[in-house]
Amino acid sequence: MSVAQKQYKRITVKSLTEMKSRGEKISMLTAYDYTMAKIVDGAGIDVILVGDSASNVMAGHETTLPITLDQMIYHASSVVRAIDRALVVVDLPFGSYQSDPKEALRSAIRIMKESGGHAVKLEGGKEVKESIKRILHAGIPVMGHLGLTPQSIYKFGTYTVRAKEEEEAAKLKEDALMLERAGCFGIVLEKVPAKLAEEVAKSLTIPIIGIGAGGGVDGQVLVTHDMLGMTHEFNPRFLRRYLDMYSEMTNAFEQYAKDVKAQDFPNESEQY
Ligand code: KIV
Repeated sequence: MSVAQKQYKRITVKSLTEMKSRGEKISMLTAYDYTMAKIVDGAGIDVILVGDSASNVMAGHETTLPITLDQMIYHASSVVRAIDRALVVVDLPFGSYQSDPKEALRSAIRIMKESGGHAVKLEGGKEVKESIKRILHAGIPVMGHLGLTPQSIYKFGTYTVRAKEEEEAAKLKEDALMLERAGCFGIVLEKVPAKLAEEVAKSLTIPIIGIGAGGGVDGQVLVTHDMLGMTHEFNPRFLRRYLDMYSEMTNAFEQYAKDVKAQDFPNESEQY
């Protein structure tokens, strides 16, 4: 068991700030279903993100844009049923918060009420400030997401590293400060230069969780299916694969098919 597991029976947004202030790094992974969430939570991961990456990983869409609020609620409620300890953060999907703050609040309330998740995450800086404030006023914890924001992929056109130029870096720093001042409990920083991410993390008191943002931030998040090596067509530099599940699973399926064809499965002891 990790040190963090002994310290906290349940992770709250307050625990994360405490971890940052004493220099303990925060671990975060995605999950979209009960079985995976049970394993991730049991392993002592601090935060489980029900990411809109479910749109890619679970549904096979090219982008995160098509996933709906109803689908996010379905994934999140499956995850929440599995959890004993982790904080469950649920992505507000594209189209559920951008049009106006009242709609953003309605969407966030649906997530909290219908899934039992503990917090919501949304992408963007000052463009979504009013929506963030509205959600926070209702007592719902909000996590920001800056840098590469996949819901805006058609605006940027590529998934390359963000904020390499001074102007974009300055806007990112301003947005991060705005999110902290507005009351967000943390920020995901995706695919930005490590030096910039470290600077942001050092300048704020709320935790900065990085993905492709280097080691100078307060925690790390990865898409679970990627770090397990279940996906093999996605190979960004920041991704560390802890298993080669794609090969392991392929071998298992091939062996099963062979056993069935050869009438080796089931054997005497595997039947009634
Ligand atoms: O949807 C997601 O999985 C995310 C992570 C990449 C941070 O937002």
